[in-house]
Amino acid sequence: MKNKGLPWNEQHRPTSLDSLVGNTATINEIRNWISSWIGGQPVRNAALLVGPPGSGKTATVGALSHDYDLELVEFNSSDKRNKNTIETFVWRAATQQTLDGRLRLILLDEVDGLSGTSDRGGVGAISKVIEQTVHPIIMTANDRESPRLKDLLKKCQIFVFNPIDSVDMFDLLERIAKYHNADLSRETIEELAEQADGDLRAAISDLETLVEGKKTREVDVLPVRDVRRGIEGVFRRLFMTTDASAAKRVISELDVDYNQLLLWVEENMHLHLTTPLELDDGFEALSLADLSVGRIMKEQNWRLLAYVYDFLSGGVAGSRKTSPYRRLDYTEPTWPWLVFQGNRRMDKNYTLLSTLARIADISTQRAGRTYVDTITEIVKRNPSQGQRFARWLDVRKDVFEMK
Ligand SMILES: Nc1ncnc2c1ncn2[C@@H]1O[C@H](COP(=O)(O)OP(=O)(O)O)[C@@H](O)[C@H]1O
Ligand SMILES: [Mg+2]
Repeated sequence: MKNKGLPWNEQHRPTSLDSLVGNTATINEIRNWISSWIGGQPVRNAALLVGPPGSGKTATVGALSHDYDLELVEFNSSDKRNKNTIETFVWRAATQQTLDGRLRLILLDEVDGLSGTSDRGGVGAISKVIEQTVHPIIMTANDRESPRLKDLLKKCQIFVFNPIDSVDMFDLLERIAKYHNADLSRETIEELAEQADGDLRAAISDLETLVEGKKTREVDVLPVRDVRRGIEGVFRRLFMTTDASAAKRVISELDVDYNQLLLWVEENMHLHLTTPLELDDGFEALSLADLSVGRIMKEQNWRLLAYVYDFLSGGVAGSRKTSPYRRLDYTEPTWPWLVFQGNRRMDKNYTLLSTLARIADISTQRAGRTYVDTITEIVKRNPSQGQRFARWLDVRKDVFEMK
C-alpha cells in the first residue's frame, strides 16, 4: 500500500528511474553522469535539470538517489536559501564525507527561484561550492534563460526535460486511476491528459480532484484548465516531444484541417526550431508534407495521410535536436494560401528540388541531399515505406536508397 492519505502526487511519486515516464534519453544521460561520479571520475561536478513544471525533474533526483543508493540531501526553494545558508549548510554537505562513506546527492531545487536581495551572493556561493564539492550536486530550474542562472550554466552539465507528452501521460493516469479503483472513461482520461499541457503534477492532481469529487458529491465535471484548444494545441503538443511516434499519435488522433495545420507549421515552427540547421530540416520536411497533402487532394487517396504524419512528426517536430522546448505564444498564419496550392502541381523530381531550394533558401544540391536525408531517416525507421515513397513522390527509387 502506497502511503495512503497523502496527495496522489506524493503517493505516486516514482521511487525508481524505471517508473518515470517520458524524457527517457535525458534520464539515461543523467545515469551516465552519476555513473561517472560513482566511478570516481566525475564529468562535471554539478548538473542542472531544466524543464517546465511537472516534467519530473525533482522526481528524477529522488529516483536517482534510490537506484544508486545515494544519501539525498535536499535544499528546496522554501528553505531560506541565501548566501549565508549556502556557505554553511550546503557547503558542509558538499565538502564533508558521509559517515558510511556513501556518496551524497545534493539537490538544490528550483535555483531560478532564488529570491531576495542576496541573489547574487547566493549564486556566487553556489559556484564556490560546486568547485569544491566531493559529492554530486544537482540543481533544477524551469527557465534556462533566467538571468540568475547565467553564471551557473557554465559550471554545470545541462539536462533538458521536455513536457510529458499526452500519450505517456494517458498511460500513467490510467494506471493511477485503476489503482484507486476509479471508473473513468477513456475519453475522460484523455481529456485530463490533454488539459494538463505536459504538466504531470497538474494532471495527477486534476485526476485526484475528479475522482474524489465524484465519490463525495457525485460531481462529474472536469477541472477546467485554461488551454486554447484546436489547432494551436495540436501544434504545441507536436513540438513538445522529440519522439517521432508520440508526435505522430498527437497528429493522427486529432481531427484537424491538414492545410490549416501546415500553415501553422509554416508560420510558427521557427519559434521552436531556433538553429539554422533545425529550421532548414524543418522546412524541408514541411515541403514534403505539403506535397503529400497535395497528392491526397488530387488523388483523393487518404491512405497517404500516414506520410503527412511522418513528415510532420519525425520530419518537422523531429528537426528540433538542440533547441529546448519552450512554451510560446503563436501567431495566426499569414502565409498566402496560394503558395501551397501552387506547390501542389509540381511533383516532378526537379521541381521538387527547386521548390525545396526556394522555400528553404538553400541550393538545389543541398535540397537534394537533405531531402534524401529526411526520407532516408523515415525509411530507416520503417523500411517497408521505401517503395511506396518512390512511387508516390514520382522519384527514382535510388534517390533515397539507404546509404
Ligand atoms: N516522468 C514522470 N513519471 C511519473 N510521475 C511523474 C513524472 N513527472 C512527474 N511525476 C509526478 O508529478 C509529480 C511532480 O513532479 P516533479 O518531479 O516534482 O516535477 P518537476 O519537474 O516540476 O520538479 C511527482 O510527484 C510525480 O507524482
Ligand atoms: Mg520540482
